[in-house]
Amino acid sequence: HGTLWVSSVDGRIKGFDWTVHSEKELEAFLQKEGWVEEVENMQNGVGPQEKVKIVRAREDQNEFFFPGFIDTHIHAPQYPNSGLFGSSTLLDWLERYTFPLESSFGQKEEEKEDEGKEVAPPRAHTAYKQVISRTLSHGTTCASYFATIHVPATSLLASLCHARGQRAFIGRVCMDNPAFCPDYYRDASAEESLARTEAIVSHIHTLDPKGTLVKPILTPRFAPTCSPAALSGLGHLAASYSPPLHIQTHISENVDEVKLVKKLFPEATNYADVYDRFDLLTRRTILAHAVHLTPDERRLIHSRQAKVSHCPASNSALGSGICPVRVLLDDGITVGLGTDVSGGYSPSILEAVRQACLVSRLLGHTLPAEKQTGREKLSVEEALYLATRGGAAVVDMAGEIGGFEEGMFFDAQLIGLGSPLSDVEESADLASGNVDLFGWESWPEKIHKWVWTGDDRNVGAVWVNGRLVHARE
Ligand code: GUN
Ligand code: FE
Repeated sequence: HGTLWVSSVDGRIKGFDWTVHSEKELEAFLQKEGWVEEVENMQNGVGPQEKVKIVRAREDQNEFFFPGFIDTHIHAPQYPNSGLFGSSTLLDWLERYTFPLESSFGQKEEEKEDEGKEVAPPRAHTAYKQVISRTLSHGTTCASYFATIHVPATSLLASLCHARGQRAFIGRVCMDNPAFCPDYYRDASAEESLARTEAIVSHIHTLDPKGTLVKPILTPRFAPTCSPAALSGLGHLAASYSPPLHIQTHISENVDEVKLVKKLFPEATNYADVYDRFDLLTRRTILAHAVHLTPDERRLIHSRQAKVSHCPASNSALGSGICPVRVLLDDGITVGLGTDVSGGYSPSILEAVRQACLVSRLLGHTLPAEKQTGREKLSVEEALYLATRGGAAVVDMAGEIGGFEEGMFFDAQLIGLGSPLSDVEESADLASGNVDLFGWESWPEKIHKWVWTGDDRNVGAVWVNGRLVHARE
């Protein structure tokens, strides 16, 4: 808590002083620096005096700034299915719940006009607006989204993120393999898959030429949905850009999936090797899940500097298994957190933080005694690190987001825990959220209470690039 100064020009943090609280202290500080406070939102250019935006967290309200959360793996079109998975596991879940919903983001044949351009159907607008608003309200300032195979709906997702001001990586999923993909939801060929991918890359590069907010990310859905020709084309496409494009996919989430990959790619030594053969394991690659990797695969992933998105809520919901995060970290692999909506039931990275802690506490019990190290557990502090700095490294933006150093983008959430229970009316206390403070907690204890009992009611405001993108009334 304290005061933070953000440049009106580029949205980066210019400075902070956690001891400046009162108006008087603030005035003195501004005078000393020769800065002028900008009241409105960011637009203004540089005047004779540099304009800064000032944001403050009030200690007496137990407010504090926290770096915006980074969701390193989320499926935007699956948001309407949140909470719907029954007792399914990955492969039957895809067939029963996921492909039918995602396929509805394309235009039906009978609705296409003869000469007219294909457009995104109304449900794409509805679902994409909702998922952006909802994730922002939970403090997600940056998300790496999987979309669908459709070009108009995927372009729409990119445009909506850009307009709403959420930092995002947008990927059109590549699915051209008839051996796995249903006929009703598939790219007709590897060529079509690549052409549609290039159309999205070019849309996003036109929308945000500098990639300040929105960037494209190549998205072979996972090995079973892609032909060798598509995988190879995507590897070449990524490398043809300077800097090379980002890549995201799934790996080793479920044991039946691992077996299927072995059958479909008999020449590969393991699952990770399938991606490596096509130059898809790079330092800009995000691999979701990584629950059942072998030591060889971990060595390969580490040597290519590819990153892992840990999605604990999804892994529990679909019964995929428990990702041994400590083992990945010990092997030098960079890890961030993902909601994996709607394999994961919640759009909240705070929920992912909780679930990462919880499953890590159960992991030891699933291992034979000689394999337990006692180090399986993740602390709250470690899980929060994965949600912010870890995520920043996973999306290749370490040093730019995920913290509050000078020069970093101001991507932040203002968390408020309210004042301690006192003589105020009981109903007023209850309305402000689920966190109850009694006044004797230390700051580390307040943070633990926030993580275990807090939710979006504690997110007072959210900024991306210094722009206010969400505020609670
Ligand atoms: N593997 C391939 N597609 C998906 C998906 O949509 N969600 C999850 N969790 N795993 C996948
Ligand atoms: Fe996923």
